Amino acid sequence: MQQNNSFLVLFLEPVREFLADDGVSEILINGPSDIYIERAGKLQRVNARFVSENGLRAAAANIAKSVGRQLDDAHPRLDARLPDGSRVHAIIPPLSRIGTVIAIRKFKKDALTVADMLKFGSIDENVLATIRSLVLGHKNIIVSGATSSGKTSVLNAISSFIPEGERVIVIEDASELRLQQTHVVPLETRKPDKNGQGEVSIRDLIHSALRLRPDRIVIGEIRGGEALDLLQALNTGHAGSMSTIHANSPIDCLRRIETCALLAGIEIPLAALRAQVASAIDAVIHTARLSDGSRKVVSIAEILPLENADYRVRELIKWETTSIAPDGRVSGRFAPVAPGIPA
Ligand SMILES: Nc1ncnc2c1ncn2[C@@H]1O[C@H](COP(=O)(O)OP(=O)(O)OP(=O)(O)O)[C@@H](O)[C@H]1O
Ligand SMILES: [Mg+2]
Repeated sequence: MQQNNSFLVLFLEPVREFLADDGVSEILINGPSDIYIERAGKLQRVNARFVSENGLRAAAANIAKSVGRQLDDAHPRLDARLPDGSRVHAIIPPLSRIGTVIAIRKFKKDALTVADMLKFGSIDENVLATIRSLVLGHKNIIVSGATSSGKTSVLNAISSFIPEGERVIVIEDASELRLQQTHVVPLETRKPDKNGQGEVSIRDLIHSALRLRPDRIVIGEIRGGEALDLLQALNTGHAGSMSTIHANSPIDCLRRIETCALLAGIEIPLAALRAQVASAIDAVIHTARLSDGSRKVVSIAEILPLENADYRVRELIKWETTSIAPDGRVSGRFAPVAPGIPA
């Protein structure tokens, strides 16, 4: 039994081999007998099965219990991080109509480095140099992309360009980032207890961070009203901050930040909000998972001032697919777009 996922192995015997296999990044259990894994970016169905729905549901409830939470009729959804760092989401019937569903994102012992990303072709030297100069230039950067496109991995890797000696406050829901610098203060949110008390949100932690003399603030992911707090922090001089957001393109990223900021519930005219977004964010690094399962930085865009009250971006580099081989392998290049960027 591997030390780092002993908790899961205890309850999830039927998928033990995948928990122990470092090549498997995700395990997706869709009811007792329909199980998938992700290996090297590709999903595949596997033969494993649980004895029954009851057995699977008991396993899920035990995982919940092991982290001090409940999974039952009154709490039919579980969002948890296990002691080994793995992330688990579970949802039970009747919300799930095919039985208990569990998704496990395994914790990778070694986070991807920029060197790995170069080796995998996720970036090239030119992309790397551009990102490095954005970070060193204290630009505020958002890494955007679809679910599981590699946003957190990019954020983690590019944080390595933050010079030693700067004080970095890291804010996350579930701790995933592993910054290498010595002067890092990691903060983590807290869910409410069973009486609904004691919640500490990303918004609360941004307020704390601002009083902790940050040079830079790194937020794991923007999902809601904290976008407004972040915009205000950035516009009052915390240059060089970074975060990620779920979005389909650099422009969509700005729109998503706007939508999230509106969730803060504070009346603010749209024009004023857009002006805040456009001035707070300097660049968007957009990531994607291509059809062959590879993850790439597919666009780096600089944010320009508003025009006719709408967003404008200027792409510096973008990925161009040139061919897709019969085995699905995608070829292409990172093409410099804007003038002044060396080829
Ligand atoms: N450049 C890459 N090359 C190969 N695998 C990668 C790369 N980037 C990320 N991965 C793998 O893809 C999976 C998802 O990565 P990551 O958590 O960074 O994505 P994400 O976009 O932040 O996901 P989410 O939407 O859940 O927050 C992980 O298993 C990670 O190890
Ligand atoms: Mg992420």
